[in-house]
Amino acid sequence: MNNHIEICETRERKPRPPDQDLGFGDVFTDHMFVMQYNQELGWHDQKIIPYGPMSLPPAAACFHYGQTAFEGLKAYRGAGERILLFRPWDNARRINATGERLCMPPIPKETFLRAVETLVTVDRDWIPSAPGTSLYIRPVIIATEEHLALKPSSSYLFVIMLSPVGSYYRRGIAPTRIYVETEQVRSVPGGVGAAKTGGNYARGLQAEVRAAGQGYDQVLWLDGQKREFAEEVGTSNVFFMIDDVVITPPLHGTIMPGITRDSVLTLLREWGVAAEEREISVQEIADAHQAGSLQEAFGAGTAAVISPIGEICWKDRCMQINRGETGPVTRRIYETLTGIQLGRIEDPFGWTTEVLLLAE
Ligand code: COI
Repeated sequence: MNNHIEICETRERKPRPPDQDLGFGDVFTDHMFVMQYNQELGWHDQKIIPYGPMSLPPAAACFHYGQTAFEGLKAYRGAGERILLFRPWDNARRINATGERLCMPPIPKETFLRAVETLVTVDRDWIPSAPGTSLYIRPVIIATEEHLALKPSSSYLFVIMLSPVGSYYRRGIAPTRIYVETEQVRSVPGGVGAAKTGGNYARGLQAEVRAAGQGYDQVLWLDGQKREFAEEVGTSNVFFMIDDVVITPPLHGTIMPGITRDSVLTLLREWGVAAEEREISVQEIADAHQAGSLQEAFGAGTAAVISPIGEICWKDRCMQINRGETGPVTRRIYETLTGIQLGRIEDPFGWTTEVLLLAE
């Protein structure tokens, strides 16, 4: 495969919003990376071009049968203007795991990483530096064959876009209110719950919109068979601390194998805090709340970072956690993780990759 990336820079740079005005995912940088796939050439034609609309035929397979895979990772402006990526190799591995589940061709990991690094380098002035901000990186693979029969597409497009971001939730880093969804489910065993593909998120929107209308920030999804066990929050994996043990649902193929989730478990184990990956029912959470042993709860994801949960509502019962405030373990995880991501705290796990300015 030819690994040359052609760089066509824009003549018109867009104005950048001040860091303090950044929300999540509504501002895009000046450039994007694109790469084509067909059966004859495999992945080929790597380019960085001005960010803008793309043209596809209405019959392109991605519009009909959901053959898409995406990722989310971040670049940080660290001390001394170093640009750091957090665990990008894991995103390269995971986009290929999603691709395999959906019959899409793998992207060589080195190609993925080089594309991310080169694009981030070209648009490095867009990496914000205010506390709580970063440059969100969204790679996506879409099926492009112009064909309406149901079969895997024979052609694909890989695109990477960049978006400077602040907090995911409108409350900032204040604790969130979560509604336990008991009617609809997100995923079932044997399905695609562990794949990062658009349909997984579309199927959650109706319940999420309903919950937002009642003042909640997100829903907590339950297992698709019994609707008893916690699975994940719409935007992140979920953790509960009961009796000094941190519990998170296991990776049995129905939830996102989160990179932040794995980092949290690694940190907790390193600190000697008991951390269990096991099924946890809402009844167990409610019983612990009743007994006063539900100490903390939080979500963990790339976009959501570590988002404390201040209240969980299940049917007609609302449970306030840690008086609605961020707990000490949640805060320690947030500070350590973001400290490593920004290069302020030593990274003993080899999680960060420095972007060395390749495109100059
Ligand atoms: C991420 O955390 O990167 C995601 O893709 C979740 C999405 C709902 C923003």
